[in-house]
Amino acid sequence: MICADVDGAKIERLNAGDIGIREDGLAELVAEGLAAGRLSFVVGAAAALKELDAEGGPVEVVFLCVPTPMGVGGVADLSAVEAVVEETRDVLPLGCVVVNKSTVPVGTADHTAELLGRDDVGVVSNPEFLREGSAVHDFLHPDRIVVGSNSSPEAAERVAALYARLGAPTVLTDAASAELIKYAANCFLAMKLSYVNAIAELCERLDADIADVTEGMGYDKRIGQSFLSPGPGWGGSCLPKDTHALLQVADAADFEFRLLRATIDTNTRQFQRIVDKIRLAVTGKRTGPLSRKRIALLGLTFKAGTDDVRDSPALAVAALLRGAGARLTGFDPQIPPGDPRIDHSFIDVHADPYAAAVGVDAVVILTEWPEFRTVDWQRMAASVGGRIVVDTRNLLDRDVLRRAGLTCVGIGRSS
Ligand code: UGA
Repeated sequence: MICADVDGAKIERLNAGDIGIREDGLAELVAEGLAAGRLSFVVGAAAALKELDAEGGPVEVVFLCVPTPMGVGGVADLSAVEAVVEETRDVLPLGCVVVNKSTVPVGTADHTAELLGRDDVGVVSNPEFLREGSAVHDFLHPDRIVVGSNSSPEAAERVAALYARLGAPTVLTDAASAELIKYAANCFLAMKLSYVNAIAELCERLDADIADVTEGMGYDKRIGQSFLSPGPGWGGSCLPKDTHALLQVADAADFEFRLLRATIDTNTRQFQRIVDKIRLAVTGKRTGPLSRKRIALLGLTFKAGTDDVRDSPALAVAALLRGAGARLTGFDPQIPPGDPRIDHSFIDVHADPYAAAVGVDAVVILTEWPEFRTVDWQRMAASVGGRIVVDTRNLLDRDVLRRAGLTCVGIGRSS
C-alpha cells in the first residue's frame, strides 16, 4: 500500500515512522508496515499510482482521504477532492475503483465521476466513522461498513469485500444515501449532545441530577448510555463542520432543517452558559465583572485522548472569558508551554496544573482528561485564591475537593 500527500515534509516524517499526531496504536502499525515493506509514503497522488504500478502491477483501488474543511457560509470546501481527481484522471489504471472516504456533500460521487470522465473507473462513496484518539480501534471494530455507488454496484461490492474480514454489518446503497449516512450520523450525535446539555440546564433549574437522569435514560436500548455526558459544548474537526455542511445541503434542497439549526445554536449558547457559570461562581453575581479575574483552564483539546485543538469548546470558552476581560492560565497533558497553536498572550500555558493554578480565582475543568481526577487537590487548594473549581465535565470527585476546602461547581446538578 502506498499513501500520498501534497506536503513533502509530512511524507518525509511519515517515512521515518513519525506519525505527527496522537492516535493510539497508529505509530506501531505504521512502523510495522514500513519495516515489512508493505507501506510507503510519497509526494503526489500521480507519483503514488506510478510507483505502485511499477512495483506490483496496476492499482485496483484508490482511496481519496483529503480534507473537506468548512468553506464560505458553512459549505464543505471540495477543492482538495477536485485537485486530486484532476491530478489522477489520466493516470488511473483501466478498470480501477476510486473510493471517497472524505466527508462530502450529497452529490459529490456524481460530481467526481463527471470530473473523472472515465467510464471504466467506478466511483464509490465509503464514509468513515472513526473517532479521533481511537481511530485504529474503531477501524478494526466497526459498527458498520457503508458503501454506495450509482454508476457501479459491482465496484461497491469490490470495496465492501475489502472489509469482509472485519465481520461488520454492511450497508450497500446508492452514493447519495452513503454520503448522507455520514452527515446524518454526525449530526445526530451533535443533536444528542445538545439535547443532553439542554437537559443538564433544566436539571439545574429543577434540582435534579444529570448523572442520574442520563443513567436512567441510557438503560433504554433505543437511547443507549453513550454520548450522554454533558460538557462545555461539542467541538472538534468533524461535528461543527458537518452540522454546518448538512445545513447547507438542506438549504440547497430547499429544506429548512430547524432541528439541526437549533442543535448548533444550543451548542453556541452552551459556551456562553459555561462563562456565565464561571462568572457566578467567581463574582457571586450573574452580571459580575470578570475583568482582572484570573482563571486557570485545565484541558485545552476538544476532548480527552487527542492532541487536537481544532474547534475546541475549551478554546471557545477561553475566547469568551478573554472577551469579558479575564486573564487566563492553562494546562493540558498534550499541549506544552510555547505550543505555537496557542497564543501565549491569550492563554499562559504551563507545564503542570499546579503552576497554572497559582493565585487564580478559579480553576475550570474543560476536557475530561482522567489525570485531572488524580491531581493532588490539597496541593492545588493552597494555590487557588478563590477556592473555586468549575467542573464542566462532571469529572472530579466532589468529596475529595470538599475535603481540600474547595467548592466544586458542576453541570446539571446542585453543587
Ligand atoms: C466524530 C464522530 O464521533 C465519529 O464517528 C466520526 O467518524 C468523526 O467525528 C468524523 O467525522 O471523522 P470525533 O470528532 O473524534 O468523532 O469526536 P467525538 O468523540 O464525536 O466528540 C465530539 C465532541 O463531543 C467533543 O468535543 C467531545 O468532548 C463531545 N462529547 C462527546 C461530549 O461532550 N459528551 C459526550 O458524551 C461525548
